[in-house]
Amino acid sequence: MKRSLFAILLIIFTCSTFISINGCFVSKTAASKSGAQLWAENCNRCHNAPPPGEFSNANWDIVGTHMQIRANISKTDMTKITDFLKSANR
Ligand code: HEC
Repeated sequence: MKRSLFAILLIIFTCSTFISINGCFVSKTAASKSGAQLWAENCNRCHNAPPPGEFSNANWDIVGTHMQIRANISKTDMTKITDFLKSANR
């Protein structure tokens, strides 16, 4: 009886340590993702992701607003994505 209780506690302890150290079951928050990462994860969900350099900076802003609405992406994330896409034009 005592032994099984110990085993359960050990499992709980191991699991919580595992989660806090590895972040294994906790997904990375969107805030910590780079523009390139957000682009790779979002922009090929519905069509092939357009690569950086495909549009001028002014047109990336228009595409960004358009796709922000289409894909329901936050303004913060969309700014990161368009900054990444514009980086090839510098
Ligand atoms: C929810 C689906 C969806 C996602 C996610 C999505 N798109 Fe689109 N995209 C579309 C559709 C649908 C069109 C065709 C135009 C339309 O009907 O709005 C399109 C068209 C485009 C075009 C053509 C030019 C234009 O503005 O119409 C570009 C460039 C584009 N998307 C870029 C992106 C980028 C960059 C991302 C990532 C931030 C993205 N898309 C994510 C659905 C999506």
